[in-house]
Amino acid sequence: MKNEIIIIGAGLAGLSASLSAVQSGASVTLVSSHPSERAQSVMAEGGINAALNTKGEDDTPEEHYQDTLKAGCYLADPNAVRGLTSEAPSIVKWLLELGVQFNMQKDGRIDLRNFGGQKKKRTAFAQSDSGKQIMTALIDAVRKQESLGKIKRLPHHRFRTLLISGDTCYGCVLEDTYSGEILEIKADAVIVATGGMHGLFANTTGSLINTGAVAAELFRLGIPMANLEMIQYHPTTAKSNGKRILITEAARGEGASLFSIHDKEKCYFMKEKYPELGDLMPRDITAREIYSEMKTSDVFLDMTIIPEKTVSEKLSGIAADCQLYLHKDICKEPVQVAPGIHYFMGGIKVDVCHRTAIKSLYAAGECCAQYHGANRLGGNSLLGAIYGGRVAGKHACIDETAADGASGGKTVAGANEGKNVFGRNKDRIAESSKTSNTADIISSREADEKLGEILAEALGVIRNEETMEKGLHELEGRKDSFSLLGKACIMSAIARKESRGAHYREDYPETNDKDFRKITVAVFKDGEIKITFEEIPAI
Ligand code: FUM
Repeated sequence: MKNEIIIIGAGLAGLSASLSAVQSGASVTLVSSHPSERAQSVMAEGGINAALNTKGEDDTPEEHYQDTLKAGCYLADPNAVRGLTSEAPSIVKWLLELGVQFNMQKDGRIDLRNFGGQKKKRTAFAQSDSGKQIMTALIDAVRKQESLGKIKRLPHHRFRTLLISGDTCYGCVLEDTYSGEILEIKADAVIVATGGMHGLFANTTGSLINTGAVAAELFRLGIPMANLEMIQYHPTTAKSNGKRILITEAARGEGASLFSIHDKEKCYFMKEKYPELGDLMPRDITAREIYSEMKTSDVFLDMTIIPEKTVSEKLSGIAADCQLYLHKDICKEPVQVAPGIHYFMGGIKVDVCHRTAIKSLYAAGECCAQYHGANRLGGNSLLGAIYGGRVAGKHACIDETAADGASGGKTVAGANEGKNVFGRNKDRIAESSKTSNTADIISSREADEKLGEILAEALGVIRNEETMEKGLHELEGRKDSFSLLGKACIMSAIARKESRGAHYREDYPETNDKDFRKITVAVFKDGEIKITFEEIPAI
């Protein structure tokens, strides 16, 4: 049993991991550069998937499992997806007990809505503010544990690097962003839950505070990444102030429809091309269709066809956002949309227990590659963050894989040890960590819009060898950790010579299961980035 756990990141995965570690008997130090209230998870709109079967459609966790694997083009670990989908109903019930204000049906059961890639209604929701509602409940649950002395929160602390001895992680180095003080904290295990690498790319729906700095530092330290080329474009985003605003898929779930204009006539192209699922085809397909339409027409999302009562009961958050940021009344006029980067299916490589390649180091949530394969189902990200956090929190406490000798078998960091938890002895920083320049990079990052532009250009909705090679060429000579991780994304995409899910190559438009139904692994070693392929774990 390990007693002291550090969790980096206080979004949904970090909060869930904290509660799970406490439940397993550990004390937690919860570190974040910003308060939980500003985490990306708060921005999630549409809802959380669970086969609750409250709509009389005979939905089952088995169907949720099949839909998740299929949408991910069979690139996800089926064992992990099995756990995710079978636990989903009990997770949503737990959230209800914690006080999440889900929309309810007249019969007192949780309401469910349609989401892309799923034929059954399976997405539980709280209007179009599901993330905010769920985060509020979990923040409250964490505060309770904090008051009991089980969790110590360290907000406004920025991760700088890991403490590693041999092949084992025994803590991390942080910077107090208020005082500038550098702290070492040690623990039996560290869980990274820092969200997707949105900061690497220009123009995403993600939070600007998700810089990708932690993933970049881990990559620089030699920790393997998986499926970095799998970047999800959300079909319906709108431009506002240098960012993309998400127009939730739930709008299409409630009846909104995409159209383009040809010969002055509206063309509802998704309905025409895909009579069965129409506007609710999986995101990769919908995004590509919009992208193709945009060559000859602007594309609009028509939400005027949703009854106003439904908008006020189920989509009021998105109606308010469109009014505030786009000055549009969604009940009266269509909104122009385009695909925008929304989610990273790839990230830190973990196994089914959320272990990384370094002992006592775990990762959960969007920063790791786990449940979503080549394309994530809408509604599976909140679920993946909560479930993955739980699994990581539990295993971080019970796994015996760590070399206990790394921290002398003793814990010196943790929630209950007051000021003694923080060492200031720089000699104990792992050799590989001494060269960390992450903090310097972070501070200069805002100025580096060029990297974002190069990556967005190279790794668009539709890719080819030429544009990707051009991107790599433009990054030549860059050695900072953000650029290394960016290069690894492009190199992973070049190596995967097929099309699968979010990775669509016009020079290799077919899926090639024989050679590429495999995990892309990127590692930085001896000053070089190496890309290899690994088999997907067997059932
Ligand atoms: O469209 C949406 O509301 C997005 C949900 C998700 O990415 O899970």
